[in-house]
Amino acid sequence: MAVSVDTLADRVRPRFPIFERLTYINSCSQGALSDAVRDAYTRYLSDWDEHGAPWEYWVSQLDAARTSVAGLLGADEDEVAITTSVSAGVDALMSAISFEGERDKIVVSDFEFPTIGQISHAQERRGARVEHVPAEADGTIPLERFEAAIDDRTALAAVTHVCFRNGARTDVEALAALAHERGAPLLLDAYQSVGSLPVDVHALDCDFLAAGALKYLLGSAGFAFFYCRRDLVERLYPTATGWFADRNIFEMDIRDYSPASTARRFEAGTPPVPAIYAAIAGIELMREIGIEETEKHVRGLTERLLEGVDELGAVVVTPRAWERRGALTCIASTGAEQLVAALGEQGIVTSSRDGNLRISPHCYNSAEDVDVVLEGLRRHRCLLRGAG
Ligand SMILES: Cc1ncc(COP(=O)(O)O)c(C=O)c1O
Repeated sequence: MAVSVDTLADRVRPRFPIFERLTYINSCSQGALSDAVRDAYTRYLSDWDEHGAPWEYWVSQLDAARTSVAGLLGADEDEVAITTSVSAGVDALMSAISFEGERDKIVVSDFEFPTIGQISHAQERRGARVEHVPAEADGTIPLERFEAAIDDRTALAAVTHVCFRNGARTDVEALAALAHERGAPLLLDAYQSVGSLPVDVHALDCDFLAAGALKYLLGSAGFAFFYCRRDLVERLYPTATGWFADRNIFEMDIRDYSPASTARRFEAGTPPVPAIYAAIAGIELMREIGIEETEKHVRGLTERLLEGVDELGAVVVTPRAWERRGALTCIASTGAEQLVAALGEQGIVTSSRDGNLRISPHCYNSAEDVDVVLEGLRRHRCLLRGAG
C-alpha cells in the first residue's frame, strides 16, 4: 500500500531538531542531525572520558559498524571494509589492480564524482588508460555508450548509482551484465543512493561498491565503506594499505605484511572512531525508519515538486522516470549560487552544481517543505531558466 506523503515525515521529524528552524532539503550534501546521532557522539566522549583509551571496545565498534553495513547492503561481513572516505576504499582497490597486462583500461562514466575520475587518472602513472563514457543531452547515459567503451582491455568499469550533478540513476544490473560478459569487474559509487533507496549488492551484481554515511544514512563525515565480492577479495592485494588491513592488527610485526583474508584488507590506519559511533546510530535509525518506505515517500514528494516546477515553466534537468532517477532533483538556474543564497535567506537549505539548483528530500521532509520550496522558487523565478 502506498504511504501517504506526510505519515513518514510526521513520524520521524521530531527526531531532527533542525526542522524547528529551517526547511532543510539538502540531504544530497549531508543528512540532517538526529537525536540518535547526537547521543552517539556524546556517548563517544563519555566512553573516552570514563575509560581513557578503551581500544578493545572501539575495535569491537568497528566490527559492529561492519555488521551494520553488511546488513544494509545484503553483503557478508567478510565482504565489507570500513574506511574514512570513498576515496580511501577506491584507492586501496586501484592499488591492487595491475594495469601492466592485457587489461590496462579504466572505464569511467561522465556521471562520476571527481574523486573517481581523479583516482583513475592518477593510475596513468601506473600504466592505465582512462576512457570516459559521455552522457547524452537528455542527462542519461544509454547502455550502448558503455557497450562501445567496455571491452577485453578493460580492467575496471566505474559507475555511479545516482549522479551527484543531475540525479540520473544508472541501470546497474544491465551494466553489470555487460561488464561481466566482457570480463571486467564493476565498481559502483552508491553515495547518492544508499539510504534513500534499497541497495543490495547481490541484486545489483556489482563487484565493488563504495559509499559513506554522511548523506542519506544520517551519519557524519569520516565514515565510509567499501564492499568487495567474496571471491575477488583474496585475488586483490592492496598496496595502499596500513596496519588495520593486516590479518592480525595486534601482531604489530614491522617485518611482515600479511593482508587480512577478508575485505578488511582494504582498510588502512586507525579507524574513525567518533564517526563510527555516529554511523552505527545513523544506519540503525535509517533502517528503523525504513529505506523502502523512504523511497516511496520521496517519490511522492518529488511528484509534487515536479508538478510545481512545471507550473512555473522552469527546466528540470533530472530524468523524469523514477527508475531513471534518485532522490535528487536538479533545476536549471541562471544564477544557481545566487538562488541557493536567496532561498537560504528564507531559511530554505539547498545546494547547487553545474548551474543547477539541487533539491534532495529525505524521510523527514514533508509536503509542506516542498510547498515552501516552490513558494521560494516562485519568488525568485527570475533566477530559474525558462521561468524568468
Ligand atoms: C557520488 C559521490 N561519491 C563520492 C563522494 C565523496 O567521496 P569521499 O568520501 O572520498 O569524499 C560524494 C560526496 O559528495 C558523492 O556525492
